[in-house]
Amino acid sequence: MRRGPLFALLGIGTVAGAIATAVAIFLPWLPPVASKERGRIDVVFWFTVSICILIFAIVVAVLLYSVFRFRAAPDDESDGAPFHGHTGLEIVWTLVPTILVTAIGIVSAIVLARDDALGKNVLEVNVSAQQFAWSFQYPNDGKVTSGTLRLPVGRSVLLHLTSKDVIHSFWVPEFGQKQDTVPGIDTQLHITPDKVGTYPVICTELCGLGHAVMRTAAIVMPQAAFDKWLKSETQATSSPNTSTSGAAVFKSNPCGSCHTLKAAGATQKVGPDLDNLPAYAQKAGKPLPDFIRESLVDPNAYVEKGYPQNVMPPFDNLPKGQLDALVQYLIDSSKKG
Ligand code: CUA
Repeated sequence: MRRGPLFALLGIGTVAGAIATAVAIFLPWLPPVASKERGRIDVVFWFTVSICILIFAIVVAVLLYSVFRFRAAPDDESDGAPFHGHTGLEIVWTLVPTILVTAIGIVSAIVLARDDALGKNVLEVNVSAQQFAWSFQYPNDGKVTSGTLRLPVGRSVLLHLTSKDVIHSFWVPEFGQKQDTVPGIDTQLHITPDKVGTYPVICTELCGLGHAVMRTAAIVMPQAAFDKWLKSETQATSSPNTSTSGAAVFKSNPCGSCHTLKAAGATQKVGPDLDNLPAYAQKAGKPLPDFIRESLVDPNAYVEKGYPQNVMPPFDNLPKGQLDALVQYLIDSSKKG
């Protein structure tokens, strides 16, 4: 091959590769990394992207060079020269992709195996999905239930996921993995959060009308703060005091991921503002305690105008003591608000 074409190909390839690299690096394609597993997954991602950029640069170089160098004259109506294949080229363009795809496969297999390997002192959390809410239970730690997923930083966490109705899917983009929740099946997901912060928990399987609002938060906290939280939740759950346990029932259920209630520090706006419960009860034409109870066990009996129908799950399997405490708590706090 002569020097001139080689330099031209190299030049075009370098420019194309540089542009593709800049687009890959300088645009924020991915959310921040907040787990060890996500860190490893990103290694596979960038390994694959590097290969793609290399192939892209070669293809663009050959393509652009050919377009300009072998361009037919406007009046040239003749056929091209007959061409009978090139065994050497065919072997190369079969062998190179085989090697590259095998390399990606090997790197992926190593990362998958390491991501699934549990660390020491594993924290187990049961994740329960239902239309359209998440709830998290810490079975070995005071049987605490929470509407948000709280995790200590740097510790190996094994989630056991299940669903009460249809298939949902658990996803925290910063943790980098998705896992379906299937009724009757215990699916598992291993996470090792490595950055303190608050991240969204997203349902990523179309599960019905409220799919888009089926969200809550994953809060990664230092081990000491996590222990303190778990201890206070354990006490709140077993406390006989009605007003504290009403607040605890509110917190341990996903109420706060859709509603506003000043007393609980809840600020979401998917569902009606619970500080206005007395006004809603009046519109529904029911006494406040009856209205609140009905709205919890049969949420679609009356839906405040301007809010979505059939989105709130019925809380009809709350133990009676907890339901009573929650109703009383909502009466007290909405009258204050
Ligand atoms: Cu649950 Cu989408």
